[in-house]
Amino acid sequence: MIKLGVLLSGSGTNLQAIIDAIKAGELDAQVVQVISSRPDAYGLRRACMAGIPSTSLSNGMYANPLAADELITQKMLGAEADYIVMAGYMRMVGAPILTAFKDRVINIHPSLLPSFPGAHGIQDAFNAGVKVTGVTIHFANEVYDQGPIIAQQSLEIHEGESLESLEERIHAIEHRIYPATLQLIAEGRVRIMEDRKVSVT
Ligand code: GRF
Repeated sequence: MIKLGVLLSGSGTNLQAIIDAIKAGELDAQVVQVISSRPDAYGLRRACMAGIPSTSLSNGMYANPLAADELITQKMLGAEADYIVMAGYMRMVGAPILTAFKDRVINIHPSLLPSFPGAHGIQDAFNAGVKVTGVTIHFANEVYDQGPIIAQQSLEIHEGESLESLEERIHAIEHRIYPATLQLIAEGRVRIMEDRKVSVT
């Protein structure tokens, strides 16, 4: 069983998918702490409803990003998290977190990285007119959206498809692939190799 500390900023549907997979016995993990970068994130309600300790940082606290990251690190270490799981966390994770949880910070991104990094992966792919996009799960490092890739799933953008429909299908993939990938980690099947590529066995 692995202990997860989740970072989020918004609706928290990926947190919910993780909670549901644990309940269903599909993910051998426990969410020990949720931290939001926004006090009004609905993800905090989800944590509360699932009985998970949660807390929020205020905008003002991010005026000093290093201090914010130190606070998050202390809280996650105090909760004995093994992994930090970013689930719609709209802030960079900095040195304090990345050092304390070296190679144990995981992010989900709604495009096939390295294409369309940044805050609008789905829309950017849609606007570019690519025919295939998808979802990436990767270890986070100091370079935004560029850490070692653990898993990816592609999908074809249908002729004439709306952005809303694409978003819906991307999110449906996310909600399957995130818990499934975390389960591979729980089973000890995910390793970062010397060349910094990820081996999944
Ligand atoms: C997801 O699309 C995720 O890939 C991106 O932010 C979104 C978070 O959604 N990083 P939610 O808060 O989990 O509903």
